[in-house]
Amino acid sequence: MIIYGNEIAAKIKEEIKAKVDDIAAQGKRKPCLCVILVGDDPASISYVKGKEKACAQIGFASKMIALPNDTKEEELLNIVHACNEDESIDGILVQLPLPKHINAQNIIANIDPKKDVDGLHPVNVAKLYQSRDGFVPCTPQGVMQILKEAKVSLAGKHVVVVGRSHLVGSPVARLLLNENATVTMCHSYTQDLSKITAMADILVVCVGKPRMITAEYVKDGAVVIDVGVNRGEDGKLCGDVDFANVSEKCSLITPVPKGVGPMTICMLLVNTLKAYEGRMNNA
Ligand code: GUN
Repeated sequence: MIIYGNEIAAKIKEEIKAKVDDIAAQGKRKPCLCVILVGDDPASISYVKGKEKACAQIGFASKMIALPNDTKEEELLNIVHACNEDESIDGILVQLPLPKHINAQNIIANIDPKKDVDGLHPVNVAKLYQSRDGFVPCTPQGVMQILKEAKVSLAGKHVVVVGRSHLVGSPVARLLLNENATVTMCHSYTQDLSKITAMADILVVCVGKPRMITAEYVKDGAVVIDVGVNRGEDGKLCGDVDFANVSEKCSLITPVPKGVGPMTICMLLVNTLKAYEGRMNNA
């Protein structure tokens, strides 16, 4: 069975839109997301446009700050601080990767944790590791939502996560552990990778290598979540999983496109609404 993230995302967006309509009907200010983009990387530009479009669709306000590639770290810090102070902004997202001369960790650490809708600020990372309520990175949260919608039970299951990035692999492993799964993390140094992945009840792949996971990596009846977004040799968008080959063997699988990708933006909207509600309640 194929799990379509775009269908789940559409349903959640409808729910958020209804809440925003309600907010507007009460004459209140709408939630606002601010996206900061530095440089002209085509993939980043396309992601940022997708975020703006999603905000418009559901009635959020959005602000886009596009800066040249040679922006100094100090200038970007000043902009982040101004966004922290700006009462009309609920969520701040600095699109990654940043140009090499800017220390991304330092920029992220300067975002107000209450506006950190990307869930990358050290305070929010710590909250995730302590099972406390905070902002969780969007793609990992999207993976968890897909598993929930597909009614995949996690407690006691062996989940293998391939990839250990700060953006996806590490937080998704922690979220799964928080749901009482037994989690194995694999990465570029892992030996006998296919032997380990073939033991997984649930396999989450986020490595960025087109169609790397073939049938021999997958146990019969496993659940396979493909987080990869790559251009294959044929120029088509494809995941880290060889879909045609693996889908025969597993019980559930997410496709690329229309799988995890659409959930990421959807979770950004969820986080922005949460930031808005948190700020309104504290005001
Ligand atoms: N670049 C690719 N994915 C992401 C993401 O989830 N957040 C940010 N800020 N940048 C990204």
